[in-house]
Amino acid sequence: MLRRSLVAAAMLPTPALALAAGLQGLPGGPLGEAVQRGYEMITHTQTDPQVKAYVGNALNCASCHTDAGNNHNPGNFLLTATKFPGYSKRENTVLTLEDRIDNCFMRSMNGMRPNPDSPVTVDMAAYIAWLDRGKPLYGATPAKGASPYAPMLASASHADFIAGKKVYAANCAACHQASGGGIPGTFPPLWGKESYNAGAGLANVVKLATWVKGNMPLGNAHLSEKEAFEVALYVDTHPRPDFVLSQHLPAGIGPDGYNAKVRAETDTVEGNLRKVGLSVDALR
Ligand code: HEC
Ligand code: HEC
Repeated sequence: MLRRSLVAAAMLPTPALALAAGLQGLPGGPLGEAVQRGYEMITHTQTDPQVKAYVGNALNCASCHTDAGNNHNPGNFLLTATKFPGYSKRENTVLTLEDRIDNCFMRSMNGMRPNPDSPVTVDMAAYIAWLDRGKPLYGATPAKGASPYAPMLASASHADFIAGKKVYAANCAACHQASGGGIPGTFPPLWGKESYNAGAGLANVVKLATWVKGNMPLGNAHLSEKEAFEVALYVDTHPRPDFVLSQHLPAGIGPDGYNAKVRAETDTVEGNLRKVGLSVDALR
């Protein structure tokens, strides 16, 4: 239902936007306008004139943060704003919500890091923070249970890859295509140069399995944990862009221009699997 109203909102001319279901009760004035622009940019990241410049693949933020993060699926934005400022091990520093948004630009969107003060990042942060209106800052985030997927990955084999290929053909290929390339403008690519890079959260098989289990097939998420794991292994053993951190930072960025103590990082599909003791060649 939410999805249908998002589609309806997308068809109306800007700036006379109909309020999507999740945007009812917006404050008036500049703050409400920022929230609404942030919502639009997260939903239409590919086409929004302000955001396009920072995007390096064929995805929208909402390709993964389904319903613009306003649902209860893995990857939702509910309680996100209450976690920031927060410590992140990956950057070994305390991140703001704006930093966290920018990190998805570099990794999941395979693009360039916007300035955290840029209208793009600020408007997206306004939308994400608005979803948590009335919630306590530093509120208790529900504890994540132990993931069933880490042990599955530790013992992954070629047989799991072949099983994943079958799950993919039966449940995913109709939309994302056997090639994994999707259909431009309709179904996003799952691997190849237009998809998320090897430094993205979903390039981690455990995270992808969790995400797929709760989100896909779109509108009919029904896979068993075993199937979600197998298909995630299948997807994340395919080629995708390497992540070389320096290539995603604006030229001439100074020591204060990027809030992270980890300043060098390179991730590849092969390297991600090697970290957990697996080899792409043996799996495929
Ligand atoms: C390819 C999928 C994908 C795309 C596209 C993507 N993200 Fe993410 N994003 C994720 C995943 C997965 C996580 C959680 C990562 C983790 O657990 O390490 C995440 C985390 C986040 C978080 C932190 C959420 C929390 O509660 O801690 C924010 C904020 C965020 N993304 C914003 C964005 C924005 C804004 C865009 C578009 C510019 C975007 N993301 C695009 C997959 C994606
Ligand atoms: C009915 C069509 C459909 C099917 C079937 C489907 N997807 Fe998707 N998928 C989508 C759409 C559309 C999106 C973008 C999210 C949105 O628009 O809400 C998406 C997004 C994704 C994404 C995040 C974006 C990206 O391109 O990386 C992944 C990963 C994904 N799907 C994996 C799968 C897997 C694995 C299966 C099979 C288990 C599957 N999907 C089945 C339509 C589908």
